[in-house]
Amino acid sequence: MVRTLQLSDGKQIPAIGWGNGTGGLEDSGEKAINTGKIVLESGILHIDTAQWYKTETETGAAIKAAGIPREKVWITTKISANSVAAEATTAANIRQSVVESLERLGTKPDLLLIHNPYVPKEGTIAQFWTYLEDLVLDGTLEGVSLGVSNFRPQDLETVLKVARIKPVANQLEFHPYVLAQYERDLFPLQAQHGIVTQAYGPLTPILRHKTGGPLKPVLERLAARIGTDVASVLLLWTIQKGVSPITSSSNPVNIKKIAAVNELPDLTAQDIADIDAAGKQVHFRYYAEHMSKEYPAPNLPTDV
Ligand SMILES: NC(=O)c1ccc[n+]([C@@H]2O[C@H](COP(=O)([O-])OP(=O)(O)OC[C@H]3O[C@@H](n4cnc5c(N)ncnc54)[C@H](OP(=O)(O)O)[C@@H]3O)[C@@H](O)[C@H]2O)c1
Repeated sequence: MVRTLQLSDGKQIPAIGWGNGTGGLEDSGEKAINTGKIVLESGILHIDTAQWYKTETETGAAIKAAGIPREKVWITTKISANSVAAEATTAANIRQSVVESLERLGTKPDLLLIHNPYVPKEGTIAQFWTYLEDLVLDGTLEGVSLGVSNFRPQDLETVLKVARIKPVANQLEFHPYVLAQYERDLFPLQAQHGIVTQAYGPLTPILRHKTGGPLKPVLERLAARIGTDVASVLLLWTIQKGVSPITSSSNPVNIKKIAAVNELPDLTAQDIADIDAAGKQVHFRYYAEHMSKEYPAPNLPTDV
């Protein structure tokens, strides 16, 4: 079984994504191809790449190496700050940037994201979105869903004001330690417009928080009951929150465990409430960047 999530444009996305943008996979050539092949063969059929990671070519190559039909794999890519699109928001620049991505991938992606709200030059997010929409409408990106990444509520509002095609997804750092901030304003706005969250850094509470915090004992208890590890419980929680976890690994043992999350029994409503409650005692963000600017964090400790 592959757990899936429904997008507002009718597509089904394999819920668990594997990213080749962290952990030494970025700009890694053969490693990104070989690991991507193992990932696909293990049954994870969703690859998250980006212009910035320099792994678009390797993403297409991994699918070929695994011998899996293109249509069985979900590919997300992202337009980045270091691209021609970011130099100036003109129709020609955006077209060139997109066409170069299609050439590197050797196929159209299923989902194309603006990697950050600061990829478009200041004040041009709406125009940038319009040019992407034009590429869908003129057939260059026919069948490709459009979305955003790291967009705060105010950035989403800017796009939604002009959108002829609504973003289907917002890819963000997401885990229980940012829940309080997102539940306040971002998630209600996204729910209103059918925008799905993709969670990068979903394992942050167990990998990057100094102590693991109040979540640690809860995750350990649930992992012992289910007979899995704490990482798998976090990924399962993410999916059951209606969010698509974008994790990563270059370790074949962990890759198998990530794939096996598809087969785990659901957490109960009480389990999810326990994780939510522990998460909302802390605000901890690893990939801070501009998400911490002009987007107030909740008044919670960071390191209990
Ligand atoms: N849109 C954006 O701005 C943005 C930003 C950051 C990331 N991303 C995307 O999200 C992807 C994932 O980001 P992330 O690395 O922060 O995700 P993450 O899921 O928080 O962390 C991934 C790390 O978890 C480890 N891991 C995997 N399974 C494990 C297990 N069962 N037990 C213990 N450790 C385990 C892996 O190490 P091993 O290799 O040792 O298994 C890997 O280094 C990136 O590659 C990228 O595609 C997007």
